[in-house]
Amino acid sequence: MQKKNYKESWVLRVINIKSEREIALMKEAGHLNYLTHEEIKKHLHPGVTTKELDTIAHDFIVKNGGTPSCLGYEGFPASTCISVNDEVVHGIPKNRKLKNGDIVSIDFTVRKNGYESDAARTYIIGNVDENVKNLVKDTEQALYEGIKLIKPGIHLGDISNAIETYAHNHDLSVVEELVGHGIGASMHEDPDVPNFGKKNTGIILKEGMVLAIEPMLNLGGKEVCMLEDNWTIVTEDESPSAHFEHTVAVTKDGYEILTGE
Ligand code: MF3
Ligand code: CO
Ligand code: CO
Repeated sequence: MQKKNYKESWVLRVINIKSEREIALMKEAGHLNYLTHEEIKKHLHPGVTTKELDTIAHDFIVKNGGTPSCLGYEGFPASTCISVNDEVVHGIPKNRKLKNGDIVSIDFTVRKNGYESDAARTYIIGNVDENVKNLVKDTEQALYEGIKLIKPGIHLGDISNAIETYAHNHDLSVVEELVGHGIGASMHEDPDVPNFGKKNTGIILKEGMVLAIEPMLNLGGKEVCMLEDNWTIVTEDESPSAHFEHTVAVTKDGYEILTGE
């Protein structure tokens, strides 16, 4: 008898396939996520605190019939993750004022209709060096390089590889410890969506899968560590980091971005 790794054999991985109706409901959640990002954008200027931005997002989501589902998720104490400069992700909003020369990543989930949506953007406050400008621009483009391949029949590794290749071609490093994910009634579902990998590997995409794709790219090295607050992930070499994320459905012949306009 062939011996099998016990753990491997009993862990059942299920990728939920969403019906058209479910995707329509997720799109409503995604649209509120988009509108909340647009609302926050109006208040981004030197002097605003990350806590103030969090409150704006929280109140906007609630007012529009959604739930800020980051709040309380595994004990996370806010409605948004706000990560400044060398903070990669999961920064906790606090009494820190944004200032000229900062970059700020804002990432949050919105729950509506029983479904989650997840999206992140990085903004530049005032003036930054050319290489930091490029970091932000290229991280956003890396997200779209991954998204534009999406259709039934491609391998998940094709997305990962496109993001990694774009990042490396633009002299950016890829954070490996944190990955994108499936999303639906739960914030984090299978499969993992790494931002690095090989073409023609991994699962094959099918219509009705919904993925949160989220490159986290650094200007310096790829290594990251966690601060003592047990949430904030920062780059080890303190170089700036950018993060963009969309929730994307696999459609019959392509994709639909659910957290877009
Ligand atoms: N939005 C994050 C993601 O992209 C998850 C945040 S979890 C929280 O997966 F607890 F920090 F809110
Ligand atoms: Co997110
Ligand atoms: Co996510």
